[in-house]
Amino acid sequence: GNTWFYDPAYTQTAATSSAITEIDGENGILRYRGYPIEELAEKSSYLEVAYLLIFGELPTEDQFAEWVHDITYHTFIHENVRKRFLEGFHHDAHPMGMLVSAIAALSTFYPNAKEIDDEDNRYRQTVRLIAKMPTLAAACHRFSVGQPFVYPDNSLGFTANFLSMMWKIAEPRYDANYALAHALDTLFILHADHELNCGTATMRMIASSNSDPYSSAAGAAAALYGPRHGGANEAVIRMLNRIGSIDNVNSFVEGVKNGDEKLMGFGHRVYKNYDPRARIIKQTADEVFAVTGKNPLLDIALKLEEVALEDDYFKSRKLYPNVDFYSGLIYQAMGFPTEMFTVLFAIPRMSGWLAHWKELMEQDQKIARPRQLYVGAGERSFVELGDR
Ligand code: CMC
Repeated sequence: GNTWFYDPAYTQTAATSSAITEIDGENGILRYRGYPIEELAEKSSYLEVAYLLIFGELPTEDQFAEWVHDITYHTFIHENVRKRFLEGFHHDAHPMGMLVSAIAALSTFYPNAKEIDDEDNRYRQTVRLIAKMPTLAAACHRFSVGQPFVYPDNSLGFTANFLSMMWKIAEPRYDANYALAHALDTLFILHADHELNCGTATMRMIASSNSDPYSSAAGAAAALYGPRHGGANEAVIRMLNRIGSIDNVNSFVEGVKNGDEKLMGFGHRVYKNYDPRARIIKQTADEVFAVTGKNPLLDIALKLEEVALEDDYFKSRKLYPNVDFYSGLIYQAMGFPTEMFTVLFAIPRMSGWLAHWKELMEQDQKIARPRQLYVGAGERSFVELGDR
């Protein structure tokens, strides 16, 4: 007979083998291809990390130059993506909803992306997807605030180019502040991959049907949109705003313990210890606040963390701050509207999704097709409408 395991949320199921990212949740360890996240955050750049995730090794100087060149010259999006798709949305459309749709729409612009057995072709689509994310993201933002679209400036680096597309014209002489571009690049490194989270599992699930990478990545982005996943950074800011002052922190925490709501930015399926990304982000926050001034919500967040880490409810359940607890405070201080936070997560996560896609293609796995436990009615006869 069949022995299936009933595990609806996959808490006990390894759905793949993977050589990309290693998490030791008990000890708060995260490594990409063996390299500790702390070292990568300090010494590497997002594009180098993207290369590492996808190809498995750090690039040589020549490989890196070619990679950066290829990414840089695919930053433009087809005019129709912007004019027909993005500008067709309702004026107050959520930029993450727009982004999910735009990624899916790209599959129709690159129909040869379906040729997934061709390795050169896979490389081309990989480059396109990574390169176009900042352009799409900024275009979604500009549309949602009613500002004209800014074309990529390929004389700029990846992150500075994104900041320029976000803020130029609003400030005509805009030059990306080096410290802010560097901080954002660090956040991109931290968000680039996180093994088999909901979005990445979705990427692999869809791609296992041999769907093209744009359609698969749109599904992954849709999963990321949810408040339990990438939407948590946005939810943290809304929560901090609602708390409003340090004086309300204790009563808010009591409400969480009574089950009124979740403490957003706390807890993780895998980490039962401090999320190592949250630790690095706290340092990055200091660098950013030195330029932008302190985010007034920071004191509430710090107090909340202090209270929660002392409290038995959180201690016994091993709930610690995760990556999203502080990232929103940084994005907000940099001037990003709250609606853009999950978009900012999606930009670098694209490289992780694509690393998993490449790995899956090389594993030659069957279509992912879980089983179910049927718990519905047994056989019964149809009753005509008039007789019910
Ligand atoms: N606030 C209060 N209680 C919590 C929280 C929280 N944030 N997270 C978990 N718990 C409780 C939960 O109610 C349960 O209690 P009990 O045993 O009494 O029923 C216990 O802790 C175990 O939690 P769980 O629901 O089994 O954990 P999970 O692995 O299913 O959920 C999670 C993980 C991240 C969805 C959850 O912790 C959560 O909803 N956190 C808030 C949202 C958030 O910050 N998400 C970002 C995650 S990191 C970035 C990303 O993935 O995008």
